Parts: sequence; structure tokens; C-alpha cells
Amino acid sequence: MQATELLTRLTAWDQRPGPRSHALADALREAAAAGSLPAGTRLPAERELAAALEVSRGTVVRAYDRLRQAGAAVTRHGSGTVLAGRDLRGAERRGAALLEELPAGSILAGMSEDRGPDVVDLRGAAWPGTAGLPDDAFVRTPAELDTFRHESGYRPLGLPVLRRAIAGHLTRQGLATDASQIIVTTGAQQALDLILTTLCEPGDPVLVEELTYPGFLELLTTRRLRARPLPLGRDGVDHLALARALQQRTPPLTYLVPTHHNPTGRTVPGPLRRLIAEQVVETGGVLVDDASLAEVWLDAPPPPPIAASLPDADAHIITVGSASKWLWGGLRVGWVRASGSLLDRLARVKVILDLGTGFEGQLTTASLLDRADEVLTVRREALRSRYDALASALTEQLPGWRFERPTGGLSLWVDLGGAPGDAIAQLAARHGVLVPPARVCAATGRDVGALRLTFAQDEATMRRAVDGLAAAWRDHLAHAAPRAATPIV
Ligand SMILES: Cc1ncc(COP(=O)(O)O)c(C=O)c1O
Repeated sequence: MQATELLTRLTAWDQRPGPRSHALADALREAAAAGSLPAGTRLPAERELAAALEVSRGTVVRAYDRLRQAGAAVTRHGSGTVLAGRDLRGAERRGAALLEELPAGSILAGMSEDRGPDVVDLRGAAWPGTAGLPDDAFVRTPAELDTFRHESGYRPLGLPVLRRAIAGHLTRQGLATDASQIIVTTGAQQALDLILTTLCEPGDPVLVEELTYPGFLELLTTRRLRARPLPLGRDGVDHLALARALQQRTPPLTYLVPTHHNPTGRTVPGPLRRLIAEQVVETGGVLVDDASLAEVWLDAPPPPPIAASLPDADAHIITVGSASKWLWGGLRVGWVRASGSLLDRLARVKVILDLGTGFEGQLTTASLLDRADEVLTVRREALRSRYDALASALTEQLPGWRFERPTGGLSLWVDLGGAPGDAIAQLAARHGVLVPPARVCAATGRDVGALRLTFAQDEATMRRAVDGLAAAWRDHLAHAAPRAATPIV
């Protein structure tokens, strides 16, 4: 709402007693309660309102702060301060404020939605199904059923057969691991949440790449933690910037996706991995190496996880992995690999969180891990062909869009050359293609003039997606005035 319009809805705010910021906040709350400022009203920018009211900007900043503290307004990155409508109390207020704070276009929030059959949904970067996986892995053998006849089912750290299989899998990737170092989690998402719950206090800073896995940024918001962005280069995180950030007296937790980075598909090369490990050990920090995409390489296998690059680093580095990105998300199996006291603390908290991950997905994952090479050969081949379909359709239809071939992963980061990513994502939704606004990957929460596309869908779907994106781009070039914003999720 324009500041001039807002003024007409406030009654004699400046005649109230007390500090001006309190008076302004109270007047806004009263106008909201009386219905003259409905829920969802976007308040003017602080500077604009300050000019209209002839007060200092600080007065408006403090008034907005007061509204937020009361749960009467929320500030979303990039979209300003919005009235929450009614004043909520206690837990209800915190819950509402939290949901409002999650970025518009939240990928995770969108997962619960039903979408029409004609829509191409590229919001999540995930395999579209179990096709290609051996059916028998999903069927329980008589021997397995027999074991469970006399088993309570509570295995908080995971089924021994799966912990052994994961340890073997990591060892084959070059990170020597014992089954006792593995905690099975409900997807990598729970592994990340477990780490934050165990190691961080609300308000703590967490170092992250400036572009990163959106689900992690949403976890930070939920846990009331602050993302501290580190610049990204062609070889992944800028290790000099990381070194400087780690030099602080209390080194914060660092979260990196150094292998087939989500969203850019970049990989930190071996020698830089060792440097990063040394920096973390020297400063006494803790690094989370999210290796959830490690199995999904396109041209050549990646270096081993960072913990493998330095023996002492093991006590400071937690490696996270997942079955979702190369097998199937529906298994809901992830893992944490840690050592020493870090491992003990994580294990204690995992027990408290859910008493253990369900058996079914664990047994299927163990069975698939036994045949990892066979499964991965097929999946990588499919992935290369899907990537090629997406890349050639983009080159043909949208020659101005720039992207680099990812080393692996399931996403392609497309630079729109200065065009607004959010607007293009909204236009694409009108053409039946759902893509996440790239800002959900940005630790700053700002529009970064890019799109994250996944190439995990089959070739025909990729080509349909590019048709829709090209139509959206034509609309954009024709200066199609964005009509009422189509919610993307
Ligand atoms: C880097 C990264 N970490 C974690 C996850 C969460 O994976 P999961 O399905 O295992 O919870 C994802 C999913 O996209 C991811 O890309």
C-alpha cells in the first residue's frame, strides 16, 4: 500500500502519548483490528512512510519491529513487511509468524499441494519414480520377516544391516567408515535438522554458500538461526572467505554442499577439500558436508567426501548422505556419519526426535545398496540423456540464457542475464511450468536473476518445460504486465 493511502487509514496517531514509534505501531494495530487495514496489507517501505509522516526512518523501523514482536506483522525477504491480520498469542503467534517468514515460493511447503495433470512441475529436484529400480528390493524376504518376529522394532540409530551397508558404501567412495559411525535418519533433511538441533542455539550464525539447498535455508528459519553467506566460485565455496569467517573466536557451524552442489552442480576439487578440512580443524569448527548428491555424477566420479582428506578432520566433520537423490525420495532414508563426542551427541538427540526411522525404507535401501553399481549405471545413463534433452532445448529456444554443464546432481542453474527470476517463474506458471523462484536458493533471500531447473524428469517432459519457459520469456520480452501474481506454490 502506498504511504499516502495508509495515512488516510490512521487516526490521529501523532497525538498519542509515549514514543512516536509506539504510537505509530499502536495506530497500525488498531487500524488492523478495526478492519481498515486488512490482513496481508503490505506496509510501505520504511523510508517512504517516514517521508509521508515526516518522521525519521528510525521511528518507522522501530514501529515495524514492535509490530513484528507482537506477531501483528511479518517481514519476508524481498517482499517487505506485511500485516499478519490479527494478533495471535503464544505458540499460535510463533507458528503463524514462522510460516509467514518462510520464503514465498517455498519448495518444501509446495510439496503438500496437488497439481493438475497438465502442469510440468520442476520445483523439486527428484527422480520422478521408482522405474528402473529392481522390484524385488521392495519385497520383504522370508528371512527378514523371520528376524522381526522377535524384534521390538525400536532401533533408534538404524537397522544394523543398513548401517553396515552405508558404511561399506562410504568406504567405497573413499571415506573409510565403520558401521558404528552411522546414524540412519529419515532422509537427509532430518539429518540436517538433527545437526542443527544438537549443535546450535537460536540466533547462532551458520555459514552457508550464498546459493544453497533451499530446504536447509528453511530449516535455519524454522530453528531461528541466521544464514551467513559465503561467496561461491567455479570450484564451489570461496575457501579464503571461509577461512576468514572461521577465524572468529567462536567459529560457527559451516554447511556446505561441496559435491554436485545444489543448485549450481559444481564440485569442490580434491586439493581444495583438504584446505577446507585444515581450516575447520585449525579453528576448532564443525563442518557439515552434505554429500546427498555425491552418487549422481554425469561425467566422472567426484573426490571422496571432505572428511577423507585429513585424518584429524574426522572429529570436526559430519558427513550427510541420502538415498533420495539416486534411488528414490519415497524411501525416506538418509544418514549421518560422525565420530567421537559429536557422534554420541547426535545419537542421543536422534533417539529423542523419533525413536528411529521406519524399517521398510531401510530394508529396501539396504537391498539396493548391495546393487548400487548396477542401479547407478542405469540411472546415470538416463540422467545424461535427460540433461542433454534439457540443454539442447534451451540452447535452441532460449539462446540468451546461460548455463554450464553441471558436474552432477539433478539441477541446472540458469543465468537469465539480468532478467528478474521471480517474474519469469511467475510467467512460466501461467504456461503450465512450475519452477522455484531462484531466490529460495539464495541465502540473502533476494531475487538473483536466475532459475533452477531440474533435469531429473524424462526427455519429453523436459522439452515441454522448455516450450513453456520460452513462452514465458516471450511474454517477458513483450513487457507483459505481470497480472495478479499467480502463486507459484
Ligand atoms: C543437498 C540436499 N540435501 C538434502 C536434501 C534432502 O534430501 P532427503 O530427501 O534425503 O531428505 C536434498 C534434497 O533435495 C538436497 O538436495
